[in-house]
Amino acid sequence: MCGIVGYIGENQAAPILLEGLSKLEYRGYDSAGIAIFNEGHIDVAKAKGRLKVLVDKTNNGESVPGTMGIGHTRWATHGEPSDENAHPHVSMSGRFAVVHNGIIENYISLKKRLTEKGFEFISETDTEVIAHLFEYYYKGDIMEAVIKVINRVEGSYALGVLCSDYPDSFVAVRKASPLIVGLGDNENFIASDVTAILKHTRDIYYLEDNEIVVLKKDGVKVYNTDREEVKKEKFTVDWDVSAAEKGGYEHFMMKEIEEQPKALRDTISPRIKDGKVVLDDISLTADDIKNINKIYIAACGSAYHVGVVGKYVIEKMCRIPVEVQVASEFRYCDPIIGENDLVIVISQSGETADTLAALKEAKSRGARVMSIVNVVGSAIANASDDVIYTWAGPEIAVATTKAYSTQLAVIYLIAAYMAEKLGRLTDKEYADFIAEIEALPEKVEEILKNKKEVQYLASKFYNCHSIFFIGRNLDYAVSLEGSLKLKEISYIHSEAYAAGELKHGTISLIEDGTLVVALATGRELFDKTVSNVKEVKARGAVVMGVTTKEHDHMGDVADHVIKIPSAHEMLLPSLSVIPLQLFGYYVASNKGCDIDKPRNLAKSVTVE
Ligand code: F6R
Repeated sequence: MCGIVGYIGENQAAPILLEGLSKLEYRGYDSAGIAIFNEGHIDVAKAKGRLKVLVDKTNNGESVPGTMGIGHTRWATHGEPSDENAHPHVSMSGRFAVVHNGIIENYISLKKRLTEKGFEFISETDTEVIAHLFEYYYKGDIMEAVIKVINRVEGSYALGVLCSDYPDSFVAVRKASPLIVGLGDNENFIASDVTAILKHTRDIYYLEDNEIVVLKKDGVKVYNTDREEVKKEKFTVDWDVSAAEKGGYEHFMMKEIEEQPKALRDTISPRIKDGKVVLDDISLTADDIKNINKIYIAACGSAYHVGVVGKYVIEKMCRIPVEVQVASEFRYCDPIIGENDLVIVISQSGETADTLAALKEAKSRGARVMSIVNVVGSAIANASDDVIYTWAGPEIAVATTKAYSTQLAVIYLIAAYMAEKLGRLTDKEYADFIAEIEALPEKVEEILKNKKEVQYLASKFYNCHSIFFIGRNLDYAVSLEGSLKLKEISYIHSEAYAAGELKHGTISLIEDGTLVVALATGRELFDKTVSNVKEVKARGAVVMGVTTKEHDHMGDVADHVIKIPSAHEMLLPSLSVIPLQLFGYYVASNKGCDIDKPRNLAKSVTVE
């Protein structure tokens, strides 16, 4: 939630900041602002609405000259989207301007105290207290003020701070919210995410909690809270700038759907050597695996749906009990976990507040935590005992597709790895399973070649009021994702149901013409789901069936059938989810929705 950028160099800062913010808009897009240092004072421009409003208001930054500045794109938490609540926030004298990503949990008490001391607030945000705190603590030494401010505030923050007394530098600091430093040639940057600065530099520093950065045009220094300089390791981002560009696609979402075969290859190939799963990334030994009492999976949204698949797959293949829980619930349900339990947390961004909190909860109870994360160096990756990265590349569209698919691939690798260590598979079963995992990218490619078929169906159904997704076992797990994909970008009401459960109440919602998407890919439960299809058909539903090429009978009961290639039963979710992603996309496209930035959402959810 919220994206921040900062620039100091020889060029005009505002256009660079606006360009950087355009890459961060996926993090929030209800208002935006910039603050630029110019001839001894700080000029601020901000506007409610998409970044475009600010771009127009400032004539693409030309009306705010200066070579040092900070910028922000917001997803409202404290206070509605408005010009006043937009960042940057400025201290009363105008000496400090602050951009912030995160939540200041004790802002109410701080606001009260600052108000008593005569500070006046013009916004409803938590961030404004930071601007005033800087003013309050500043006695001519910015570093001292930073340390006092971060000692005083509770919560999460990535902060960029301009001080008009410092014409040649600005400062930044983070705790639990992401912030990287970009190292350029006579110019330096801060950003919530590398995509914002990739056009200018690939050399970056990742920051630890409470490391304070002082950025000048010709150098960057990082300090700890004892004011000692910290030597940082420089990382070079190796992915191409085009990875974060639309590259001719109308939307990032379609680009990312199409990127799935590559993302799957990048995630799977390095981890299969000589027909065996090799997880160099983790330190879990065969003995550790044998001693696992129970596995918990905690995640949010689509990542949670990956966990639901994971439960079926790991339990079936490893015979270890698995409990999946939405991360926001996990934390507060007094989970019964201990040393012999493994907690797997799944997160694309690696910064989802609820997932991070679940991780901390698990660790505090002595469990070992393994995470599946896409963003290198993110808070969740840093806090885990073991991390397995999904190599999906940057995912910009708010609705996840390639991250979901690569998370699923990692679940399969973990299941195969554990099952082998536990001696649960014969050599042949293991070899077949591995070969089938390796074949997934090609099969996904095959489905994508036939996307016109799904596009046609979407054009028939985009006016529906409500769409149901049903399936059993793994098909149910994928139904959850198909339903979420559709509703979050097309705004059509949708529910996913275990196919056998519908008749216990929800079937009363089925009437003439209601669209039911029925997944029946598995062999064992195919006939059972077909019976459920007949039940909804008898009540007037129009049915779109999703099944594999080996099932001919779906056409006898469903009105429309989408076929996917056959695969190992456990791996079918990787294939059946693809037409559902496409369906959601095309329905939203037919409705003219803002596919990459659906209303009310943001890509990374750093609030509880
Ligand atoms: C839906 C979607 C979200 C995320 C969820 C978790 O398309 O993208 O439901 O899956 O917010 O985010 P991460 O994976 O970043 O923890």
